[in-house]
Amino acid sequence: MTDAPTPHAAILSLGAYRPGRQVPNEEICHQIDSTDEWIRTRTGIAERGWALPEETLEVMAVGAATDALQAAGVEASSLGMILVATCTNGQPIQPLAIRVAAALGTELPALEINATCAGFCYGLGVARDLVRGGTADRVLLVGAERLTDVLDTTDRGTAFIFADGAGAVVIGRSETDGIGPVVWGSDGERGKVLKLVPDYTELRNDPTLPKPSISMEGRRVFKWAAEEMPKVAEAACKAAGVTLADIDVLVPHQANQRITEVIVRGLELPERVVVADDIATSGNTSSASIPLALHRMRAEGRVKSGDLALLIGFGGGLAYAAQVVTLP
Ligand code: UT7
Repeated sequence: MTDAPTPHAAILSLGAYRPGRQVPNEEICHQIDSTDEWIRTRTGIAERGWALPEETLEVMAVGAATDALQAAGVEASSLGMILVATCTNGQPIQPLAIRVAAALGTELPALEINATCAGFCYGLGVARDLVRGGTADRVLLVGAERLTDVLDTTDRGTAFIFADGAGAVVIGRSETDGIGPVVWGSDGERGKVLKLVPDYTELRNDPTLPKPSISMEGRRVFKWAAEEMPKVAEAACKAAGVTLADIDVLVPHQANQRITEVIVRGLELPERVVVADDIATSGNTSSASIPLALHRMRAEGRVKSGDLALLIGFGGGLAYAAQVVTLP
């Protein structure tokens, strides 16, 4: 066997699918005894995208995938792997990734990843290694969520945060290294602060239980993210061989604008760094939030090709993953 040089990997394109219904705070407030002002001040959210009945998880995932493939100018048949990050696939025995592969007219290897809100960055870490290892020349990575399927719209702690949507990227071989090493990990000891209640097994054993919905100890998740993510971000920069002064764009998971602000302060990022604020109109879309934010910033011309972006995913599990990437 000959030792071929390790190929470089980079993000080649961005794609997005935003649901058809924008829901303003006012529409949610009356169900949870809240106000538009409270939601805006505590989270930065003014409105969020909630899927229409026909906008299934698969429809959104395929929409984002098709958009990313078109933007890259490549056919689905040229891919070596399809990865789909999601935590809201209600039919896990028929993985969403395989349904996406079929909808794109392929029989490609396809793998579903559930690392909750860190799923996109986990997927990017895996895709990078698939390309660098020579297993796949190109990988499609989708982050797709339909969180309204598991949202209790009367729950004061979650109804105003979570939303729907899908984002996608094509990753492929490139002349230069465009995806830094992933820094990732988990904290299962603290995982119970964010989960589905009841879970599907409990529901099967006792059908009188209410339908599963997200239960979150928001303050504890907030504290963990605010304390740990600046350290993770610094480690990702170090792993990529860059300093925070080199970063042009910061895209933390769009969980809460206040968490983003704490990370910005913790890292002492210079004013010139463009910081994602997609949560204001998209809400928290878990594994879709980072590619959706990137897509919008690029479409609005707030970031450009070649910019160095620091991505930080974090959420249920608890799970986190971060890396530095060059924007396509
Ligand atoms: O994506 C997965 C990861 N998830 C996250 O990162 C979410 C992290 N957590 C958060 O974003 C925040 O914890 C929330 C936005 C969920 C909640 O904000 P908070 O600042 O942590 O609120 P809190 O639960 O500490 O409650 C503060 C006050 C309480 O009143 P008192 O005791 O101070 O008088 C609550 O009763 O706000 C009250 N409150 C509300 N008021 C109006 C709690 N929920 C609401 C509400 N509307 N929906």
